[in-house]
Amino acid sequence: MNILVTGASKGIGFEIVKQFSSTAGNNIIALSRDMELLQNLQIICNNECNNNIHIYSIDFLGITFEDELKSILSNHNFHIDIVINNAGYLVNKPFTETSQEEIRQIYQTNVYAPITILQNIIPSLDDNRQCHIVNIGSMGGYQGSVKFPGLSIYSSSKSALANLTECLAEEYKEKNIKINCLALGSVQTEMLNKAFPGYKAQVSSEEIAKYIVQFSLQHPIYVNGKILPVSNATP
Ligand SMILES: NC(=O)c1ccc[n+]([C@@H]2O[C@H](COP(=O)([O-])OP(=O)(O)OC[C@H]3O[C@@H](n4cnc5c(N)ncnc54)[C@H](OP(=O)(O)O)[C@@H]3O)[C@@H](O)[C@H]2O)c1
Repeated sequence: MNILVTGASKGIGFEIVKQFSSTAGNNIIALSRDMELLQNLQIICNNECNNNIHIYSIDFLGITFEDELKSILSNHNFHIDIVINNAGYLVNKPFTETSQEEIRQIYQTNVYAPITILQNIIPSLDDNRQCHIVNIGSMGGYQGSVKFPGLSIYSSSKSALANLTECLAEEYKEKNIKINCLALGSVQTEMLNKAFPGYKAQVSSEEIAKYIVQFSLQHPIYVNGKILPVSNATP
């Protein structure tokens, strides 16, 4: 299978790539900014799983982001079976103290980048093969969930990603494209440590990655355009 995962350098994305790479024959494109961390991931995948992955350093905030993305995709002239839009950025700050630059960075990473990635991937998909797009959302962006002060910009960006999921599923319902959003609860990662210092999540990035990988591998005939809460605690 051909798979693209964003935010692969650490946390949940790192574990997702490791788990995909344990299946022989999987062809994985792993993106994030930190090349050193990506190289570390590549070594682990090589040693533990005997599987090579394609790593690319790319900054979603850079002005050349879309050009770099096009260049990466042109290196891999194949249908992509699974896209995991996992990269995310969170700033925990009171609403009125959040700067325009911080707001731009959060929305650029969590909303505009997935939009750009999908605009560039969808036209090149093979109509005869299925593509499952899994957007990684958050319980904070799930309608009716408990909300937290300081996360208004982040959570609203995840709501936008969730809504985009529903809209694209409708727009591409005649195609072989399925798109869903997993609204995650807390997972023990660097992001959570920064947002909620001292809080201990019940779920590890390894465990949630297993769930995400299994979900993405299902042929989602009956699940399309859905925002699924994946949480057993608050937050
Ligand atoms: N952890 C939680 O409790 C939790 C809960 C709900 C939802 N989520 C969501 O789950 C996803 C993964 O989160 P995580 O906890 O694993 O976070 P993390 O450990 O902070 O990892 C975030 C990933 O996103 C990448 N990234 C961030 N900014 C980027 C940029 N400008 N350009 C390219 N890549 C960028 C980072 O790579 P580089 O720094 O190398 O670029 C990193 O690989 C996110 O979408 C997050 O919102 C997490």
